[in-house]
Amino acid sequence: MRARTLERVEDTEELGRDLAAQLTAGDLVILDGPLGAGKTALSRGIAAGLGVQGRVSSPTFVIAREHAPGPDGGPGMIHVDAYRLGGLGELDALDLDSDLEDSVVVVEWGEGVAERLAERYLHVRLTRLAHSDVRTAEWDWRTA
Ligand SMILES: Nc1ncnc2c1ncn2[C@@H]1O[C@H](COP(=O)(O)OP(=O)(O)O)[C@@H](O)[C@H]1O
Ligand SMILES: [Mg+2]
Repeated sequence: MRARTLERVEDTEELGRDLAAQLTAGDLVILDGPLGAGKTALSRGIAAGLGVQGRVSSPTFVIAREHAPGPDGGPGMIHVDAYRLGGLGELDALDLDSDLEDSVVVVEWGEGVAERLAERYLHVRLTRLAHSDVRTAEWDWRTA
């Protein structure tokens, strides 16, 4: 288990860029933590680190948003909001399997739902301290 204190949103984005360096096509990332913890901010950093196209925002009206690979190649990114997902059946209905091999799949709040997509996934837990902008992140690779 690794951990980092994130004083500002820029630190959370930087962690995402750092994590992206160990991600490759087919990898699954599960971001766990309450609303406002910084899961979308971390996703933005991962997208920046991967160099994928498109602006990362909270997928409020879509369950999953696909980001194509950047001009330098590498994997694309599929950004999933499991918070809006009713369950595993809906995630299956997105038919992500065909893209898993070509993309890094980042799932916000997907614990218990999305890990069944992959045997191995990077789990990141974000914790928000009360009355503060400071977040803590703990992450490790887990096997489903
Ligand atoms: N240290 C920090 N890390 C991440 N976000 C922070 C931090 N400090 C303040 N914020 C703010 O908290 C909010 C986090 O929102 P978001 O990333 O959408 O969270 P989530 O996706 O977990 O609901 C943003 O408005 C961001 O600017
Ligand atoms: Mg979010």
